[in-house]
Amino acid sequence: MDKNLFFLNGRSALMAGLMLLQLQKDDEVLIPQFICDSVLYPFKDLKIKTNFYKVKKNLNPDWIDINKKFSKKTKAIMMIHYFGFPTEIKKFLKFKKKNKIYLIEDYCHGYTGKKNKIELGNIGDFSFSSLKKIFPDTISGGILKINNKKLSNINLIRNFKNYKNYKLFFEIFKKIKYIKSKIEKTKFFLSKNSRYASYQSNTSKNKKNYFYGDLESFKFLSKKNFVYEKKKRFLKYKKIEKLLKREKIYPLLDLKNNSLLPWYFVAKVKEDKRKHIFRKLSKIGLKVFSWPNFPKELEKNKLNMKLWNSIICVNLI
Ligand SMILES: Cc1ncc(COP(=O)(O)O)c(C=O)c1O
Repeated sequence: MDKNLFFLNGRSALMAGLMLLQLQKDDEVLIPQFICDSVLYPFKDLKIKTNFYKVKKNLNPDWIDINKKFSKKTKAIMMIHYFGFPTEIKKFLKFKKKNKIYLIEDYCHGYTGKKNKIELGNIGDFSFSSLKKIFPDTISGGILKINNKKLSNINLIRNFKNYKNYKLFFEIFKKIKYIKSKIEKTKFFLSKNSRYASYQSNTSKNKKNYFYGDLESFKFLSKKNFVYEKKKRFLKYKKIEKLLKREKIYPLLDLKNNSLLPWYFVAKVKEDKRKHIFRKLSKIGLKVFSWPNFPKELEKNKLNMKLWNSIICVNLI
């Protein structure tokens, strides 16, 4: 069973995956509370109940909290490979098996990575990815990978809007977005911007751009040399690691070899030094970001804000 379906973005692929689960009114999905707003859109639009579980300082799930939150209503759990680094896969699989629930694998921060012999993106009952996040030379692309043959009734997603019918619109939209992103990047570079250093309250509206059939991403993927991409990112990772060591800044997630395709170099920082570090790294030409933009209901969560303030993301591309 190996089925890839192509969408406009990660949230569309998640939306389709959730439709295949055919959850009922009171069913619940456990999801990590350290999460960005766009992951929640499909749940909200499909009126699927979510229950948030805590995430530790090293971004691993808090299993005590997961067990506390689990109930008869829980029908699925979501794991995230944050920044493209494998989460506690074995524990999630054990939990899924023990409780006879679905495992949703969010692999939007990486692609084609491996841990030992396990291929990320092939573990959950379904997994979903977002090409546009990890490859800046594409503006769209979301992939749903169905790994459980019980979920193969794709008739259930027949009402999805088809990308084909909006192709011209998207061609124009993508061109504008591409130009805008280039301008943003240049501005960012010139101004040594540190506006990502402090959290900005979320004002974004639910972007309901769910589309099926973005074959551009398929064409794009078929041309990519992933071995080369992984090698390139590994070398950049090590270069940044060396550079930051001089500033006494260390990685939160260790990249040991070129088996992964990470999104960012993720470093630990002290909250009171955060702004200073942003300025300093921008000055030496590194693009530094923060992640994520929380959904409104999670912005007041103290644990989330503490975690948000303790990490910075350095561009690898
Ligand atoms: C962990 C994670 N999953 C899913 C998504 C959604 O991806 P997309 O923006 O392609 O819809 C995001 C977006 O930021 C994300 O960070």
